[in-house]
Amino acid sequence: MEINSIVSEIKRLKKEKNAVILAHNYQIPEIQDIADIVGDSLRLSQEAAKTDADIIVFCGVHFMAESAKILSPNKKVLLPAIDAGCPMADMITAESLREYKDKNPKATVVCYVNSSAEVKAECDVCCTSSNALKIVESLESEQILFAPDKNLGSYINDQLKDKQMELWNGFCITHERVREEEIKLIKNKKAGVQVVVHPECNPLVVQHADFVGSTSQILEHIRMSDDKEFIIGTEMGILHTLRKENLYKKFTLLSPALICYNMKKTSLEDVYHVLKTEENEIIVEESIRQKAFTSLNRMLELSKG
Ligand code: 13P
Ligand code: SF4
Repeated sequence: MEINSIVSEIKRLKKEKNAVILAHNYQIPEIQDIADIVGDSLRLSQEAAKTDADIIVFCGVHFMAESAKILSPNKKVLLPAIDAGCPMADMITAESLREYKDKNPKATVVCYVNSSAEVKAECDVCCTSSNALKIVESLESEQILFAPDKNLGSYINDQLKDKQMELWNGFCITHERVREEEIKLIKNKKAGVQVVVHPECNPLVVQHADFVGSTSQILEHIRMSDDKEFIIGTEMGILHTLRKENLYKKFTLLSPALICYNMKKTSLEDVYHVLKTEENEIIVEESIRQKAFTSLNRMLELSKG
């Protein structure tokens, strides 16, 4: 089938089945262009929680579709590329977290949404990169574990005044590939040009950045800026929206290694296939879902206002 026919079939099926297509900012351009909503992890969870569609087609990775199912259990959630996972989410298991909790019964566990439903079910509250500081600051506990992203955790620790969190030893394999030499070199070569990075980058890289934020915060920052050139320190998929929204601004990727292969697995054909067949449905066992819902919903409540 030709691309144009696939796109029209996707649109037809979406209407016929009352489906909504949610896509993360790292998806390939063709997917972002057919999506109803393109956003960061927080925005996509908020949309999944409030949609009145019957089917959610989630163009992203597994933990994102799972979060949508946790928040909207009565909707059918479909993941077009069923093998699109997140290596960082696999760096923590519910069992290993339970072991930590047994040894540290007083600790409050904050868990980055880049984690499985089972891990979310074991934690006290979730966060994304755009609300992590707010969530952590709202906690009274003296002992806090931040899991699984040690880089985001370290970025938050640097901003905390009266507490420091313990950090799980996980990281994003994509952002971790950026080296300090790369940011130092580009800052030297392009003096005066803003370098914006995602907090999943290593702290050695983050320390040299002019702006640090989630994918949507980066988009917002650049939209509002009068500068005409930027170096982008996050996954390359974001360049699509950046270029669409800022026709006269110039963007250079901080490192050629900033590509997440899992985020690139979803094709238009996959979206068409799941809409047609309703295959690749995400199921979360109900007792796990209820516990994970509590952690995710607490995050959504704390993010308001
Ligand atoms: P955000 O879009 O929330 O910044 O998340 C980045 C990411 O790595 C998602 O996997
Ligand atoms: Fe996971 Fe990193 Fe890919 Fe996001 S960019 S899905 S954190 S590996």
